[in-house]
Amino acid sequence: MVLCVKVERERAEAVRQKLLSKELLDGSYVPARDEKFVFFAVKKRTAGFAFAEKKLMKREEYGKSLGEELKGKLTSEELDELVKSFDIVGDIAVVEIPPALAKKQKLIASAIMKNHHNVKVVAKKTGGTAGEFRIRPIKVIAGAKRTHTIYREGGCEFELDINKTYFSSRLGTERGRIASLVQPREHALVPFAGVGPFAIRIAKSVPTAKVVGIELNPAAAKYFKSNIERNRCSNVIALKGDVSKLLPGEYRGCADRVAMPLPKDGMGFLKYCIPCLKKGGILHYYSFGDMANPYEKSKKELEDAALKLGRKVSVLIRRVVRPYSKTTVQVVIDARID
Ligand SMILES: C[S@@+](CC[C@H](N)C(=O)[O-])C[C@H]1O[C@@H](n2cnc3c(N)ncnc32)[C@H](O)[C@@H]1O
Repeated sequence: MVLCVKVERERAEAVRQKLLSKELLDGSYVPARDEKFVFFAVKKRTAGFAFAEKKLMKREEYGKSLGEELKGKLTSEELDELVKSFDIVGDIAVVEIPPALAKKQKLIASAIMKNHHNVKVVAKKTGGTAGEFRIRPIKVIAGAKRTHTIYREGGCEFELDINKTYFSSRLGTERGRIASLVQPREHALVPFAGVGPFAIRIAKSVPTAKVVGIELNPAAAKYFKSNIERNRCSNVIALKGDVSKLLPGEYRGCADRVAMPLPKDGMGFLKYCIPCLKKGGILHYYSFGDMANPYEKSKKELEDAALKLGRKVSVLIRRVVRPYSKTTVQVVIDARID
């Protein structure tokens, strides 16, 4: 057991800084967390803190890669099969278990939990991202029997259920980039809003902006609404429904910015999204592209759609958002629409 300072999660960073400045923090142990508290190993007791005894892991035993942790526990053929990278969404680790390792899934899951104390559930992918709601199904193989979690990013919290809603932790940098571009008093529109990560990050970082998000999946729209409350944002509206039905009419010419995070099928919705932009408004158009020539297809789609609507496209930025498969990348084009 290790002597720890026990602090509520919300105050943990401030207290950690205080312990550091007083040279009380014992950095050779990894802090532990539970639902309410964080436990920091300390060198001695001093007035002004709450203390507890807790079993903590030594830093050098912690944070091994999955491959390192399983060396000697899997054969070298099995180690070759092992998919060593995995995503962590909130406290759920989402792994890929190749068929050849199906019998070793418990061992793989416990190796992950041993090296990631924040992981309370390990789930395996049971299919690819599919359907109109873009859901990638998972099945729990270890830990708590649930697929919902709370994910934290950029000072915001998002509650979601991986089996009922789309969510990718890999888009965090992109969401931060978009939020940083938004100007005070902008009107931003996020069709395809999911549980609200783009819309809420914009709203939270620019409180004078007004944001409208639209989501078709009833489960995601419900989480979107509750995430607005969770993040105390009074400048976002969550609409449940189909972009193609909700946008024509009321939203024509009213947005300074439209972000379209639907890379697979976004093209078909350009005719509804472009007319929402004011003259000189900015469109963030997400798509998939060939690794060898990532932007050609999406630039043409955008230009063709704008031309049909009598609008002009000026490309401002184009970037690869993330690799998607061995041959495909997700890209974004930021364009001014005149
Ligand atoms: C790729 S996900 C992105 C979700 C969210 N922006 C994010 O980054 O987590 C696309 C979302 O668009 C929603 N969607 C698909 N077709 C739609 C439509 N016609 N109208 C409104 N939302 C739609 C899906 O349910 C899904 O939640």
